Amino acid sequence: MTELNLIPEKIVKESVEKIVKRYKVSPEQAEEFFLDEAFKNKVFMEKALEFSEKKNFSKWSEYRKVMKKTKKNIYYNLRQYKHESVQEIKEKFDELKKALKKEKPEKTLDLHKQLLKMHISSKERIEFYPEFYKKIFEVTGKPDSLLDVSTGFNYFSLIFSGLKKLDFVGTEYKKEFVEQMNEYFKLTENSGIKGKGFLLDLKNTDFDTRNELLDLNNGKNFDVVFLLKLIPVIEREKRGLTENLLDLIPAKWIVLSCSKESMTKKEKISFRETGTIKKFIKENSLYLSAQIDFPNEIVFVVKRE
Ligand SMILES: C[S@@+](CC[C@H](N)C(=O)[O-])C[C@H]1O[C@@H](n2cnc3c(N)ncnc32)[C@H](O)[C@@H]1O
Repeated sequence: MTELNLIPEKIVKESVEKIVKRYKVSPEQAEEFFLDEAFKNKVFMEKALEFSEKKNFSKWSEYRKVMKKTKKNIYYNLRQYKHESVQEIKEKFDELKKALKKEKPEKTLDLHKQLLKMHISSKERIEFYPEFYKKIFEVTGKPDSLLDVSTGFNYFSLIFSGLKKLDFVGTEYKKEFVEQMNEYFKLTENSGIKGKGFLLDLKNTDFDTRNELLDLNNGKNFDVVFLLKLIPVIEREKRGLTENLLDLIPAKWIVLSCSKESMTKKEKISFRETGTIKKFIKENSLYLSAQIDFPNEIVFVVKRE
């Protein structure tokens, strides 16, 4: 008997429909998540057939437990900021490393794009990266130095920035992300874009952080800092966490952004997210120079007053 025979098709079908209506997953993924949880619930498995014949199985407490856990798993899975597995990312990065040992970075654009697609935040910009940078730099001017706080995979996009020369520092809060970044910049050190990775967990900063960042830029303020799709995420992690963030950041121009649509659920969140950013701008007495609209992202370019 297959797994599907054990759980009445009606339950599976209706559950999958409910999930895909709300979350950014395919019907196949929704089914996999649902079945995973269903099989863990013994009572559900024993009584599923009986309940499926009743009209209102969706009110059955065991069914609700299964759905609740399924949704929670989907939510956390999507919040991993990537669709691909760690193994797939490693393989793709190995491919890029191999290519960079033989060729100039400009000859490996497609591999850069493939890696950018593996992180949900950069994936959403893949179609318009050159324009993204152009519009931001029209306001800030072309920077000589750029700090990208919690860069994700965004550093793979510098090659599409139109900048020929740049001193770049990217931060991330997981050691393996920083190691990967440093490996990448070691392999591209002969290009005009010089980069370094820096371990920075925003939940765990101290007075030295600012000086450490300054040291990475030869003691100078960065021309521009990116806080892309970060403030609302960090505030959700822990309220008030971004309160003193700007004290750590030695930069003239600050570029903040937020998503218009949730990364996990099919819901518009731009009102809530822009609210968080506007509050941040106000509380830090920043001057808003430009607000730029991109597909699924709103960018705020601000200056310290
Ligand atoms: C929505 S992603 C944005 C990534 C990138 N800035 C972009 O827009 O492409 C949020 C980033 O915050 C990072 N992050 C999550 N918790 C963090 C923490 N406590 N400290 C620092 N970074 C964190 C994640 O690793 C992830 O790269």
